[in-house]
Amino acid sequence: MKKIGILTSGGDCQGLNASIRGVAKTLFNYYGDDVSIVGITDGYRGLIYGEYKELKKEDLSGILTMGGTILGTSRQPFKLMRVVDENSVDKVEAMKGNYRKLGLDCLVVLGGNGTQKTANLLSQEGLNVVSLPKTIDNDLWGTDMTFGFQSAVDIATNVIDCIHTTATSHGRVFIVEVMGHKVGWLTLYAGIAGGADVILIPEIPYDINSVIETVKNRTKQGKNFSILAVAEGAVSKEIAQLPKKKKKQAMADLAYPSISYKIAAEIQEATGQETRVTVPGHFQRGGSPDAFDRLICTRFGVAAAQLIINKDYGKMVALKGDEIVAVPLSEIAGKLKQVPIDCSVVNAAKALGISFGD
Ligand code: F6P
Repeated sequence: MKKIGILTSGGDCQGLNASIRGVAKTLFNYYGDDVSIVGITDGYRGLIYGEYKELKKEDLSGILTMGGTILGTSRQPFKLMRVVDENSVDKVEAMKGNYRKLGLDCLVVLGGNGTQKTANLLSQEGLNVVSLPKTIDNDLWGTDMTFGFQSAVDIATNVIDCIHTTATSHGRVFIVEVMGHKVGWLTLYAGIAGGADVILIPEIPYDINSVIETVKNRTKQGKNFSILAVAEGAVSKEIAQLPKKKKKQAMADLAYPSISYKIAAEIQEATGQETRVTVPGHFQRGGSPDAFDRLICTRFGVAAAQLIINKDYGKMVALKGDEIVAVPLSEIAGKLKQVPIDCSVVNAAKALGISFGD
């Protein structure tokens, strides 16, 4: 009897359940009754503290379209994995112990950057691990696309669409703040798809005077509104050039709830035009996965199950072009996939006249 553990870790997103279904259905189809799937509760926390429930075939029904995760999730920072907790538990040793106590043949992990780092650590510690790339941020190294990203792009685009109509009616400037502290993929894609006039992302520090200039030029051209898609992690040129620690402090010291509110105040003061901020926040991670995500989650899930069948461990399934491939965890763990500042998507946006404030 094969015994496979599966967990979802880090921030949730669309497609987690579709991926769980993809892995488990493929294993049930291949092994029949000769496999037991253990759903570990709340990410690595469940593996640390031994909390789990068996996943039956019937648990997989109706979850393809369901948002969130039937297993629950939690954030267990990688940097604390080696730190003994208040109950004197060494998390890594506890996870190894529970893996062995459960008699698992493999652990399937669905997660983003931090999750993949821990997956790599567990793999190096001798556990059989296979992982799937999850995050609305699309910032995982080694895959062209993560699942959750496209669904979040749809939601953020829809927000920009809706803001367009109200911005036009009132002749206002609107900032839509899109998720993404370290990378701007989501802001870039939703900004272009939603027809934003300005896109600000962490990879391209902005000059506020350039942003203001764009808004003023639009007014001169008789356009009474402007839309800015701004990533949570957008950063001004002045702050970007500070050393890491000072930069962090400067962002923490903002006298506004977030960078978007500061930019809004600066635009309003310089142009006299009413400037508002909309923050869709966790909306972007919620609800049903779109068709694209359902498809790649299913393909990722099948590919992960095939790795398990072939005993090909220590890998993350990934999308390369239109193919699903497997990349060693050691090659991708700890690497961030940022937006290359001269990539074709950025260049297309610039050719169209979208300002990046640079
Ligand atoms: O990593 C996904 C993400 O949604 C980021 O875009 C966002 O900055 C962060 O998670 C928010 O995390 P939390 O839900 O823990 O506040």
